[in-house]
Amino acid sequence: MPITTCVFDAYGTLFDVSAAARNAAAQPGREKLAEKATELAEHWRLKQLQYSWLRAVTDDYTSFWDVTQDGLDWALEKTGLDGDMELRELLLALYWELSAYREVPMMLAKLKAAGMKTAILSNGSPDMLEGAVDFAGVGEYLDKVISVEDVGIFKPAPQVYELVEKQMGCARDEVLFVSSNGWDAACARGFGFTTAWVNRAGDPVDRMPWTPDHILTDLTTIPELAR
Ligand code: LAC
Repeated sequence: MPITTCVFDAYGTLFDVSAAARNAAAQPGREKLAEKATELAEHWRLKQLQYSWLRAVTDDYTSFWDVTQDGLDWALEKTGLDGDMELRELLLALYWELSAYREVPMMLAKLKAAGMKTAILSNGSPDMLEGAVDFAGVGEYLDKVISVEDVGIFKPAPQVYELVEKQMGCARDEVLFVSSNGWDAACARGFGFTTAWVNRAGDPVDRMPWTPDHILTDLTTIPELAR
């Protein structure tokens, strides 16, 4: 089947998750954070994801906002930045104002101009996703914003990928699924989507039973791939 529908992961794929620590570190008086911002952002992201997987396998769902806060608390302690409640609040507030990667608006506009259906499929809770989409100003290019909250389990549970078929009214072989997470692109391939992994960091391919159909360095070529 030809591709009719392009579906994007949100955090790390459309929105730059390292922006919160970077932007906080750029504020006056945040020299201590500036030294550790990269390390903090990496630990925060990794723990946020680990907690989402642990919550999924233990069947103990809580919202992505909760695992985001839990991941931050672990990362702050790990980097010796814990105890500064103002910093914690600042980092959490900035998570609602993540910048979209530069090519995102134009790429989505091209997909819509070509008649593609477009959506986000994310672990994020609906309010987090609404905040991110509004802040980035890309709502007009998205037909739907789908949250895992509708099934109460995180990616890569197949029930999550099934939401696309249900909510977009398409078959899985009509979908191009795009994620910056190697594991997400691999597992969505296993589910039956055509997948593109946006590997900005040049990471090794995840050792999973499935590999993404396409490996890209950014999102610019998505409209050509979808065609
Ligand atoms: C998401 C995370 C996995 O947006 O990046 O679903």
